[in-house]
Amino acid sequence: MDFPVTRMRRLRRTNTLRRMVRETRLHPDNLIQPLFVVSGKDVSNPIKSMPGVSQLSIDKLIPAAQRAWDAGVPAVILFGIPPKKDASGSAAWSADGIVHRATRALKEAIPDLVVIADVCFCEYTTHGHCGVLHQGEVLNDETLENLGKQAVSLAHAGVDIIAPSGMMDGMVGAIREALDEEDHPDMPIMSYAVKFSSAFYGPFREAAESTPTSGDRKGYQMDPANAREAMREAALDVTEGADFLMVKPALAYLDIISELRETFELPIAAYNVSGEMAMLEAAAANGWIERERAIMEMLGSIKRAGADLILTYWATEVAGWLKR
Ligand code: PBG
Repeated sequence: MDFPVTRMRRLRRTNTLRRMVRETRLHPDNLIQPLFVVSGKDVSNPIKSMPGVSQLSIDKLIPAAQRAWDAGVPAVILFGIPPKKDASGSAAWSADGIVHRATRALKEAIPDLVVIADVCFCEYTTHGHCGVLHQGEVLNDETLENLGKQAVSLAHAGVDIIAPSGMMDGMVGAIREALDEEDHPDMPIMSYAVKFSSAFYGPFREAAESTPTSGDRKGYQMDPANAREAMREAALDVTEGADFLMVKPALAYLDIISELRETFELPIAAYNVSGEMAMLEAAAANGWIERERAIMEMLGSIKRAGADLILTYWATEVAGWLKR
């Protein structure tokens, strides 16, 4: 029925009516808080391009995780900055690694908090690439072996979810096999299944000290132009045993999130990355946009596109807003 019988404005007239017909809403349960952990004590190094985000030593990480938990955020994802790097990134699978120690401390302090470990080598290698480097190329199958070791060591340390982010072929299958062999058949894998080679990771690389010293990641991360290829990536990870599919970044890839949502039944996560945060914060700091409204609109669009879970640096703050 057309106008004037149908008037769309009828249901927009008051706040209460708008509440009743709202189709999507964020909930703290949808949010995952990323945290950066460094060695040392009493360390809190603010990241210039990510206002409110700091590299934290374990003693400072615990209260930050506690604040997230108290606000209703169910999970954190940890990125470790090791005290020493080497060519293969071996600190990533040491039982005494920074994420391993942080995990043990977190599980002791907040047992029900879900601890997700990012599984990748770019923070751990001297060259900053996500695997074993040979003549400028990241070797796929050699890297898989190391990913298995890293995942198993983190499982032993007590993480609740393994999240491989290196875009190696076969990474989910290799990690699944390694975990099963070492008695961790119940460890879920949240795969960064569709990760684009993006300009929006800039601030993160400062935070994680993971900028490649030469070349770029285009040989393993996806070309931003490709949507069909994204579906192939996701399908492969499903057959290899992924328990969650992640799309990253989120904002420039809402079409990919919604296509994945239509095609797969797995829970879908989307990573609201550092560059998305930085551009909004910069505009808000200049008084060019309303910060809180813009954040809610941005995260709301990711949910509306079909993401069940959103990794966002604003998780704790937003969960607090949602409670009031
Ligand atoms: C790789 C990794 C990256 C991010 C998360 N995991 C960076 C990269 O691929 O260079 C980026 C997250 C962000 O930008 O917020 N371990």
